[in-house]
Amino acid sequence: MDRIVIQGGNRLSGKIQVGGAKNAALPLMCASLLTSDPITFQNLPRLADIETLARLLVQHGVQITMNGDQSSKGESKYGRCLTLQAKEITDTTAPYDLVRKMRASILVLGPILARCGEARVSLPGGCAIGTRPVDLHLKGLEALGAEIELDQGYVVAKAPDGLIGADVTFPFVSVGATENLMMAACLAKGTTRLINAAREPEITDLADCLIAMGAKIEGVGSDTLIIEGVDSLHGCTHSVVADRIEAGSLAMAVAATRGDVELIGGRLDHLGAAVEALQKAGVEFEETEDGFRVSCEALSGTDVMTEPYPGFPTDLQAQIMALMTTTDGASMVTETIFENRFMHVPELTRMGANINLHGRSAMIRGVDGMNGAPVMATDLRASMSLIIAGLVAKGETIVSRIYHLDRGYERLEEKLAACGANIRREKEPD
Ligand code: UD1
Repeated sequence: MDRIVIQGGNRLSGKIQVGGAKNAALPLMCASLLTSDPITFQNLPRLADIETLARLLVQHGVQITMNGDQSSKGESKYGRCLTLQAKEITDTTAPYDLVRKMRASILVLGPILARCGEARVSLPGGCAIGTRPVDLHLKGLEALGAEIELDQGYVVAKAPDGLIGADVTFPFVSVGATENLMMAACLAKGTTRLINAAREPEITDLADCLIAMGAKIEGVGSDTLIIEGVDSLHGCTHSVVADRIEAGSLAMAVAATRGDVELIGGRLDHLGAAVEALQKAGVEFEETEDGFRVSCEALSGTDVMTEPYPGFPTDLQAQIMALMTTTDGASMVTETIFENRFMHVPELTRMGANINLHGRSAMIRGVDGMNGAPVMATDLRASMSLIIAGLVAKGETIVSRIYHLDRGYERLEEKLAACGANIRREKEPD
């Protein structure tokens, strides 16, 4: 197992390439199940989660060919290009031992059911950041005519005569349920309207790819998606949208070190309320030809609350908390999406942060400086918050259980080291 060792105190400056979005790439790869033609994805990030999903898709009969390295901005050592072809779905079961490794596996349910009239997918189970149910996915598919039963931890879905378009109103915004339903509705008979749908850039990216495959979708980017079912979809080539969470995380790392970095390929317009929150705290942004530049000289406390897009993303909550630990004044961070997403707090406290939890809110009082310490990553975004804290802390920080980080950040230590950070990856001693 690897760990990351940081000597804090160095200012970040230079350029960093932002990769393709993991949270767009996973649903996009599942969309390959909807057609027998090949789909080529460019700018896929090289991440553990992508490999886990690839293993599941192969189990369903998808053939995957590697087309070498490729990013959206020409030659780059990051990212890659894969072609996925589901000529035939050879197995409609997604087994527990593959699904349990990654929640996004539930996204094979809609496409397999729509194409084959049946699917058997293991329930993903609990997750470190909360209970994370899938009831909205199942109710939505039932509204499209599927019969659904739960059998020994598996969702068994059947629609022998195909799915039928319907109106589905989500009681609250769910990214995963919107993706599953949008994919399934593409092959349903008639029209589906998804009301109170998620509007995240990853949803738009999936809709753009489905449209390139021949789907008829209106309202892309809004909270109502209207999908006119078609008999079949065809192949296409699609470049995965830039990862707004990686860009936002790097922007916070730069701000924490009072640095100045250009994020190549980054999309400022996809950062939603995070830009405003960071500007209020003293961070400066400037759009450039190749992405955007982020710089910071002084930081003050600010309040944020996580919300569906374009609100402040839950996936940047742990990182802004780390950033707020050394500001002037106090900040309040409120988490409204997940009930147990504060596991980074005890670790940040061990490094000297002054944080008090009150239910779904955390009050952070800025301290003069943080101190390096051995800390443990508990989930993907929490790992990034510990890296940010390590970059500004005095002395050495050792972040263990880095496999969480590798699920969502491509060779982060290389990217940060190239901008002046004293950071390295090493093997965890036995
Ligand atoms: C969520 C985030 C997404 C983030 C991802 C990974 C939101 C709205 N979604 O997406 O930005 O990238 O986590 O951290 O910010 N829920 C149900 N029943 C369901 C589905 C969801 O109750 O069937 C609840 C969840 O428990 C959660 C909320 O709805 O409280 C939003 O969940 P959802 O958007 O579906 O989660 P993800 O797709 O994982």
